[in-house]
Amino acid sequence: MAPAASPPAGPEQPPRPPPPPRRTRGRPPPLRRSSSASASGPGHRCRPLLLSTPIFYANGPPHLGHLYSALLADALHRQRGLRGAGPGRFSTGTDEHGLKIQQAAAAAGTSPPELCARVSALFRQALTQAAVSFTDFIRTSEPRHQRAVCHFWGALQERGALYKGSYEGWYCTPDECFLPESQLAERTDSQGRTYKVSLETGHEVHWTKEENYMFRLSAFRDPLQKWLRDNPRAVFPDPFYQRVLHWLGDDLPDLSVSRERSRLQWGIPVPGDSTQTIYVWVDALVNYLSVVGYPETHGEWWPAAHHVVGKDILKFHAVYWPALLMAAGLPPPEQILVHSHWTVRGQKMSKSLGNVIDPSACIGQYTVDGFRYFLLRQGVPERDCDYYDEKVVKVLNSELADALGGLLNRSTALSINPSNTYPYFSESCFPKILDYRETKALGRASAEDYEFVVSVASLPLQVASYFEDFQIYKALECIALCVRQTNGFFQRHRPWKLNRNHPAEKLWLDTIIHVTLECLRVFGTLLQPVIPCTADKLLSRLAVEPEERGLSNLTFLPRYNGKPCPFEGRQLGPDTGVLFHRLEKSSQHQIENKRL
Ligand code: ME8
Ligand code: MG
Repeated sequence: MAPAASPPAGPEQPPRPPPPPRRTRGRPPPLRRSSSASASGPGHRCRPLLLSTPIFYANGPPHLGHLYSALLADALHRQRGLRGAGPGRFSTGTDEHGLKIQQAAAAAGTSPPELCARVSALFRQALTQAAVSFTDFIRTSEPRHQRAVCHFWGALQERGALYKGSYEGWYCTPDECFLPESQLAERTDSQGRTYKVSLETGHEVHWTKEENYMFRLSAFRDPLQKWLRDNPRAVFPDPFYQRVLHWLGDDLPDLSVSRERSRLQWGIPVPGDSTQTIYVWVDALVNYLSVVGYPETHGEWWPAAHHVVGKDILKFHAVYWPALLMAAGLPPPEQILVHSHWTVRGQKMSKSLGNVIDPSACIGQYTVDGFRYFLLRQGVPERDCDYYDEKVVKVLNSELADALGGLLNRSTALSINPSNTYPYFSESCFPKILDYRETKALGRASAEDYEFVVSVASLPLQVASYFEDFQIYKALECIALCVRQTNGFFQRHRPWKLNRNHPAEKLWLDTIIHVTLECLRVFGTLLQPVIPCTADKLLSRLAVEPEERGLSNLTFLPRYNGKPCPFEGRQLGPDTGVLFHRLEKSSQHQIENKRL
């Protein structure tokens, strides 16, 4: 957190207390979502939502961490679309101003605009390659954004939230912030020179004194606390919410929101004061408003915004941003979804260690869907996750190639289903019983089969609830478990041993295949937000039409409940080959060699 500024110096006007934050008229009360299972409930129908990723610094190429943020947001956005939840926008982009960029451009022997154009294109390309379905891509160097920032600044000024003060403190250029002594450590370099670094990031800090515009952040401690108390899911998952509350328990000093132009030329000038440049974080945060057309048309979307962010930028999003919005007369965003970091073989990813993971190389190695699946299956928002190639190979081979792909392959093989149709379900083989634990099975199905059908039937709601709770990895874990159970079901009845020419056996054989294909249809439908291409291949093989792939009308085994099944008797789609190819162990070495 920034240290306290020295009181406004000299002839400046004494600070006026800011007006109380005002809510825009007609805004619905904040949505309090109790939890989960309401995911498809009426309250969630047809309301607009803006999902966002952070805008990434245009000072270096995209890496694994950037892609992970974007994939989380992408899966949420796709899932919303599939459940027909209302108009959705999904924004991402690049953060192009500030000293960091100015310095990176100088180091690369180029100009900031040239560097930004190049790096921004790399981000756009990497996200597109990974099938991230963003609807908006914003660059902070665009005129529409600069206009929005100037307008936002004007709103802050008009409402008395800014004052000019002389500011002095330890400034960390790579992190673009002032740091108090309590967050610094001393280091000694090889020449014996001592210097100070940020405890959190290890970056060097320098003593800096300048005239800056200050934002009255201190006046927003109470409103921020109230906002959090009233909206217990505003910062999510809960450990991050607690962290923010804890910060708000401490002093909240005012924040320096401009830099001297002489030191920082690459940025938006303060309106009406060309000696100052707007602080890059104020500039960057306003991107969430510029994408929705602030100051004209944002009202259609704001504050229905969910920001996906890494824990490194939590304070900017959960403290500074809501306070700035309140100060400008706008409500805070509805939700900030926070995730932890990926390490690589136990180490922080860093250029100097040379262990930065390039998403494009991984996609080349593991395919788009393979890599998407891995990151979303293994990434746990609440804690850091470790990346290494052997783990990717293991997860993908066992869950996508063997379990899911193998199941599709075995259950659609011409040897057991020569007509290549969606076979009929027989109620006499698998009769409906109210309590399979109490009743002796009447047909051919066993107690274990009933248990398994119950667990697949509950899967769609479970998955919806995990998505709602930002626990996509758990949704995938549940699906993987059901895939295993379906393989168990298929295996234990050995359909390949049944005689198709014997009428009673044929009924049971068809029922086994019917149940298996129904399970695969559910898995394929639920996996669409995560592995869109593979899910499409799977559903096309099962002859599921595009309009039958929605989440809100997803059925499972309707015939078991005496309802018609529209798929029965349908010709299956063409066999377009293996669903997901097994990865060779050696592919790891290839990747590692490339990196060396
Ligand atoms: O902070 N693991 O941009 P940035 C997971 N421009 N996610 C990671 C990660 C890792 N190891 N490293 C980075 C900025 N990320 C500002 C944001 S927003 C208004 C301005 C992800 O390029 C994570 O989402 O440093 C993190 O918050 C973001 O990239 C930081 O990207
Ligand atoms: Mg960063």
